[in-house]
Amino acid sequence: MAPLFPGFVALSASLSALVPSLEQGFNTSSIAKVRTNLLDIASASWELGTAAQALTELSWPALSVFNASAFPPSSRLSGSAIPADVLDIANKTVSAKSADSLPLIPNQGSAADPASIGVAVLLANWTRADTRNSAYADAASDQLEYLLDHAPRSPTGAISHRANEVQLWADFIYMVPPFIAYYGALEGGASGRALLQTAYDQIRLYRDALKDESGLWKHITLGSFQDNTHWATGNAWAAAGMLRVLSTLNHSSVARQFASHQANLTEWIDEILDASWAHQTSTGALLNVIDNSTSFVDTASTALLASVTYRMAVFKNETSRIPVADRAFGLVRRSVDANGWLQNVINPITFHDPLPAGEHSPEGQAFVLLLQASWRAFSDYIKRTRTT
Ligand SMILES: *[C@@H]1O[C@H](CO)[C@@H](O)[C@H](O)[C@H]1NC(C)=O
Ligand SMILES: *[C@@H]1O[C@H](CO)[C@@H](O)[C@H](O)[C@H]1NC(C)=O
Ligand SMILES: *[C@@H]1O[C@H](CO)[C@@H](O)[C@H](O)[C@H]1NC(C)=O
Ligand SMILES: *[C@@H]1O[C@H](CO)[C@@H](O)[C@H](O)[C@H]1NC(C)=O
Ligand SMILES: *[C@@H]1O[C@H](CO)[C@@H](O)[C@H](O)[C@H]1NC(C)=O
Ligand SMILES: *[C@@H]1O[C@H](CO)[C@@H](O)[C@H](O)[C@H]1NC(C)=O
Ligand SMILES: *[C@@H]1O[C@H](CO)[C@@H](O)[C@H](O)[C@H]1NC(C)=O
Ligand SMILES: *[C@@H]1O[C@H](CO)[C@@H](O)[C@H](O)[C@H]1NC(C)=O
Repeated sequence: MAPLFPGFVALSASLSALVPSLEQGFNTSSIAKVRTNLLDIASASWELGTAAQALTELSWPALSVFNASAFPPSSRLSGSAIPADVLDIANKTVSAKSADSLPLIPNQGSAADPASIGVAVLLANWTRADTRNSAYADAASDQLEYLLDHAPRSPTGAISHRANEVQLWADFIYMVPPFIAYYGALEGGASGRALLQTAYDQIRLYRDALKDESGLWKHITLGSFQDNTHWATGNAWAAAGMLRVLSTLNHSSVARQFASHQANLTEWIDEILDASWAHQTSTGALLNVIDNSTSFVDTASTALLASVTYRMAVFKNETSRIPVADRAFGLVRRSVDANGWLQNVINPITFHDPLPAGEHSPEGQAFVLLLQASWRAFSDYIKRTRTT
């Protein structure tokens, strides 16, 4: 039988001979279902922020910090170039924000999570058609002020993940430093550089507090309770957040002044990737507690760390971890059911129980989109480098 898409088959055959990555991505209809489900169930602040980032990377890659054209985003977007789904999250958030709340969403318990929507809010400001509309800029600046001047801090200066006590969670790294860094890269000048430095310093302080000799990060330290386990999602949040800051620095106009910061972030991401994948199961998965063999498979963190792994291959021009990422991608693909729901995910609220069948993880849905976007960026990179 003649192939339906001869060009595609020929391309994939010639590529598979050259390319370490043999894994196929999700097809359009599968990824559309995953995306629709995400938008149906994302509601908490960090879920909306993570969704906005996932939609940006999936559908508007030229606007994401992984593209050299990210700074500043074009103010002349029109028609189908407008990232409507991302801007919708920013619009609903800022429209609902009361004037007396500095955080983008008040009373979340977390000092950090609302800031995760900040990148989308800044994008809405920079791309807005009505230049008299200062609502997005004001909301982003309020959120920044809350983080820098109001949120509690540890004795070392780490901004607390929690609003009512000082407590450091690995999750913070995805919620806060990418926003502060994005703000700084857009602002430019001395104050913009100071924000880039702050984003880096917060990561450094969190790593000092949470990383142990295993190379992995503990989940939660300080405050009224601790989670000393090497929670897979916590490590994935940390690696993925560091990667966004790394790419923001790399594409900012002052990248060269941050060469040492970039080198350290690269090392710190690699450290998590190496320590995590050393425990990859034979099916390609990570366990919910990465280094505890009595733990259970978690496809959500597996997806996010695989996504970081593909992006780092592009960033470093180095493909040695691709077989590992491909095995993880294979597992994630097999774990998305026919209706577009990711199965075998951790309960993102309790941290240590799998979600019962029939319940779904908003962040897990977003991680699948991030994985698809990163896999595609890697595939494009391979095509560029191997055919030129
Ligand atoms: C997309 O992938 C899913 C899952 O592998 C498969 O069931 C479906 O038939 C595919 N759809 C198309 C249009 O190829
Ligand atoms: C970056 O965005 C530009 C458009 O601004 C696009 O042409 C280019 O392909 C993108 N590059 C990557 C690596 O995504
Ligand atoms: C959100 O969108 C609506 C409808 O376009 C608009 O009236 C409103 O001003 C927007 N909100 C902000 C904060 O710009
Ligand atoms: C909002 O966008 C304008 C450009 O339209 C820019 O001058 C301003 O600095 C932006 N505000 C923030 C907080 O990024
Ligand atoms: C961006 O990162 C790459 C990979 O580490 C590096 O080679 C390059 O020098 C960086 N660019 C800048 C401007 O810092
Ligand atoms: C990067 O790490 C090295 C080694 O720990 C340290 O000496 C250097 O100061 C760090 N760079 C920055 C910008 O913090
Ligand atoms: C692994 O997890 C089990 C169940 O939670 C616990 O009893 C055990 O102490 C853990 N082992 C290690 C080495 O942390
Ligand atoms: C990427 O690595 C390949 C070798 O694997 C090398 O030929 C190529 O020049 C590198 N590209 C860049 C931009 O460093």
